[in-house]
Amino acid sequence: MRMVDIIHAKRSGLELTDDQIQFFVDGVVSGDIPDYQTSALLMAIYFQGMTDQEQSSLTMKMMESGDHLDLSSIPGVKVDKHSTGGVGDKVSIPLAAVVAALGIPVPMISGRGLGHTGGTLDKLEAIPGYQVEISEQDFINQVTKDKCAIIGATGNIAPADKKIYALRDVTDTVDSIPLIAGSIMSKKIASGTDALIIDVKTGAGAFMKTLDDSRNLAKALVGIGKGVGMQCMAMITDMNQPLGNAVGNALEIKESIELLKNNGPHDLVELTTTIGGYMAVMGNVATTPEDGKQMCQRVIENGDALASFKKMVADQHGDATVVDNPDGVLPQAKYQIELPAKVSGVVSKIVADEIGIASMLLGGGRQKADDKLDYSVGIYLHHKIGDSISAGESLLTIYSNREKIDDIKDLLYDNIEISDSATAPTLIYETIE
Ligand code: URA
Repeated sequence: MRMVDIIHAKRSGLELTDDQIQFFVDGVVSGDIPDYQTSALLMAIYFQGMTDQEQSSLTMKMMESGDHLDLSSIPGVKVDKHSTGGVGDKVSIPLAAVVAALGIPVPMISGRGLGHTGGTLDKLEAIPGYQVEISEQDFINQVTKDKCAIIGATGNIAPADKKIYALRDVTDTVDSIPLIAGSIMSKKIASGTDALIIDVKTGAGAFMKTLDDSRNLAKALVGIGKGVGMQCMAMITDMNQPLGNAVGNALEIKESIELLKNNGPHDLVELTTTIGGYMAVMGNVATTPEDGKQMCQRVIENGDALASFKKMVADQHGDATVVDNPDGVLPQAKYQIELPAKVSGVVSKIVADEIGIASMLLGGGRQKADDKLDYSVGIYLHHKIGDSISAGESLLTIYSNREKIDDIKDLLYDNIEISDSATAPTLIYETIE
């Protein structure tokens, strides 16, 4: 078999056989297929799509490319959550602690930033010392003892995805339903979770820009999960504007801690507790999502969720005093630059992907696969869509390590609109069970 023939077949719109997909995945993992041929096939898949059969074959072969975690020694229903990626989407971080505080084991395997979106692992690494790579046994011990751990797909979980993910990020082939579905579900199936909720983002800052595409992705993800016997559901949620107020790695950790201190921004709290409510049902501690949501609210108010977070950080070798003193522990940018509103009115647009790009250009995201991140930089929004603002008032603060940032200011001004009136967008569109 030759890789060039597989590229040709996909480029021509043909359905790839199981053997061809196996050859591709094996070659990616062994390194026999060079990055330029993998990239070419990814681009062909991007344009030609994949049938359901190809999609589930790609997922299973990527999953089989590495180890399969056996979490059966952890008592209880193990429940995980994954997001398809957004801007300011730090939900997984407080959510893992909230759900763990309900007594449900949360073995969370997360990813890095992709394109303009942030990644949970990059955010956690803003906490000095935090290790996202721990051994399988330490992961199992930690989830058994403290009920949550957030780690990367370490060692040998879906190694094919690791390589493909990095190449997609730099070849603009991220927003493809079969590639996203294969990437997420190969890791989730290999991670051995019993139940999974997927937050499928929709809108300008999401990989799926329309509700229809998001629905198709949600159905593909849930279909693959159910096909292997996993309890699986998806929620389609808004990503037209960033979630919460903070965009940038350290800033998002600080905002997650604020949420766990019962002081989080409304949209972030609403989404975290709503998803947590469904996880509480999946984990058999609540009978309805509404009851589960109230239970989540309670562990935020009584400090149990914050305690779970602190334990997780300490277990994973991070500086747990970050909880008491975020500014003293997290990396700080040299400059804090305000962006004043040019006119008075109501904020009517904050184009999420461009805000993500601004944060990336400040150094908070990768432009090339091996870029080192600057955890301290980012953007803090003082106003969201639907908020009134007066001319001269600060729209947002830019956290930067360079003083001259006219390029960033122009980009932000170009992507934030102030009009006579606007209402906040819907946060949760639908659930797919
Ligand atoms: N998260 C993943 O793990 N993979 C994707 O492709 C997108 C989001």
